[in-house]
Amino acid sequence: MDFTGKTAVVTGGAVGMGGATTRAFLRDGANVAVLDIDDPAGQAAVADAGERGLFVHCDVAKTQEVDAAFAQVNATFGGVDYLINNAGIVSYNKVADTSEEEWDRTMDVNLKGAFLCARHALRSMEERGGGVVVNMGSVQSYVSQEKVAAYTTSKTAMLGLTRSIAVDYAPTIRSVTICPGTVDTPLLHNAAQLSPDPAAVVQECIDMHLLKRIGKPEEIAELILFVCSDKAPFITGQSIRIDGGLGIMVAGSKQD
Ligand SMILES: NC(=O)c1ccc[n+]([C@@H]2O[C@H](COP(=O)([O-])OP(=O)(O)OC[C@H]3O[C@@H](n4cnc5c(N)ncnc54)[C@H](O)[C@@H]3O)[C@@H](O)[C@H]2O)c1
Repeated sequence: MDFTGKTAVVTGGAVGMGGATTRAFLRDGANVAVLDIDDPAGQAAVADAGERGLFVHCDVAKTQEVDAAFAQVNATFGGVDYLINNAGIVSYNKVADTSEEEWDRTMDVNLKGAFLCARHALRSMEERGGGVVVNMGSVQSYVSQEKVAAYTTSKTAMLGLTRSIAVDYAPTIRSVTICPGTVDTPLLHNAAQLSPDPAAVVQECIDMHLLKRIGKPEEIAELILFVCSDKAPFITGQSIRIDGGLGIMVAGSKQD
């Protein structure tokens, strides 16, 4: 795919799936702005990109930081063609055990951050006559683990944000939710460390996928680039699961 002359903003683009998406867009010729709170990793992600790479320290949950980041992106690259709302955090609690602070932070990063970034990107895309907003959902936009009340709620809401953008900005601007299963990123390994047996947690994740493995960040990145590309001009408002078949098998006795 050739994104020469196009500009992508990748939130949480320093590591994990965002990092893989940053690398893929750079490989395929785009300018890439990484908005992240991890300064060393964010700077490293665009270190070899020359004038096509920009790192901006930005907590996507904070309006003023998002405003300043998009001002810098627009001044550097002249606008935005693709917004990848990837930054996300996970928290583990049932509703009654979730503090208001935990709920608010999860919603602010995962959902409000996407809205705040989309506001800027959509104005720019309208001026440029087109663009794509990719929102990072999860299989937990559809099914839920135990004790992920705030997270699964935020990821389900991403489907609504995608739908609203698709409806309100058609036909020139498209929006898609990407819903991965478990993917091999720092987020997964940090979460596993909360368990007394992290290796068992990762193995459990492997076992629950029909393909008996977890995803690679690069696999998700390739789907994101495809969705943004001119190979996917008839896809909008939808969510695409990329999850190794997680959750599609039902129990039942075998007939053979
Ligand atoms: N890893 C998985 O198994 C999995 C599965 C489904 C969906 N997801 C979702 O995919 C997205 C990326 O996940 P990942 O596993 O690559 O995560 P990760 O934790 O490995 O990386 C997330 C990146 O986002 C950045 N970030 C965190 N909070 C931020 C904030 N407030 N503002 C800006 N940047 C911020 C981090 O610094 C980091 O660079 C998230 O939205 C996550 O919920 C992850």
